[in-house]
Amino acid sequence: MRKATLNMPKKFFRPRVVIGVPSGITNVERRAVRDAVKNAGAGEVHIIEEPMAAAIGIRLPVHDPVGNMIIDMGGGTTDIAVISLGGVVIAKNLHIAGEKLNQDIISYVRDEFKILLGERTAEEVKVAIGTAQKISEPMEAAIRGRDLVTGLPREVIITDADIREAIHDSIMQLVDAIKEVLESTPPEVVSDIMHRGIVLVGGAAQLLGMRDLLERELKIPIHLVDEPYTAVVRGTGIVLENLHNYRDILIDNEDELPPR
Ligand SMILES: Nc1ncnc2c1ncn2[C@@H]1O[C@H](COP(=O)(O)OP(=O)(O)OP(=O)(O)O)[C@@H](O)[C@H]1O
Ligand SMILES: [Mg+2]
Repeated sequence: MRKATLNMPKKFFRPRVVIGVPSGITNVERRAVRDAVKNAGAGEVHIIEEPMAAAIGIRLPVHDPVGNMIIDMGGGTTDIAVISLGGVVIAKNLHIAGEKLNQDIISYVRDEFKILLGERTAEEVKVAIGTAQKISEPMEAAIRGRDLVTGLPREVIITDADIREAIHDSIMQLVDAIKEVLESTPPEVVSDIMHRGIVLVGGAAQLLGMRDLLERELKIPIHLVDEPYTAVVRGTGIVLENLHNYRDILIDNEDELPPR
């Protein structure tokens, strides 16, 4: 907010803010978000569910009577949501996303190599050689951590196969969660989704092979959008500029919208 309002007169300027939240958060959590944004200097706060913002950000026809499925793999959470007629029809939110994969890598390296890795190293190695399914050209990377026995720094070589093994369970839990959502989605909507495909967004969706793995497991076309990590913020921008068109979509609209 400070960055965005850098050249504005601070005293009188209370910006209007559209902010994304994970789908299915509680009223208490919603209120906490609203209060935090107000305390940061906002005048009006409008809250939107992140998968809905992502869908708008990639210009899906969210108001139309067709079903769309969005999977947003972020840092802390993965949101799986089915959207139709301007609303989230069904959604599931789980704490398996980029940071969990990093933790998986840390646990794996601790168990297999008796080395304690830092969070940043885990992130780097995941981005460098992490894959969701087997690749034709094997990759490896040197990682350094603290030897759990001697307490001294030690370097080992880790391969793409190691990372795959480390994150396998989490990836399969994600696949299962998506299957569960599909199973509880009304049949006509599932048929829309099978026809239109599932849209994959979020930073962690960039894990090499993630798209292919989901396509193979779910047997539904998966589209990884361009710049998947900015879909949500692009959507909130579009909503901010067209608040009236999207008023029914906002999930917490305690503030009055300005006159047309
Ligand atoms: N090339 C990559 N391969 C795998 N993971 C990646 C890659 N680039 C970024 N990530 C992961 O993406 C995650 C961040 O994604 P994103 O920016 O969508 O999260 P966020 O929206 O801040 O989090 P949340 O949606 O949980 O609130 C990080 O955990 C990061 O490790
Ligand atoms: Mg996100």
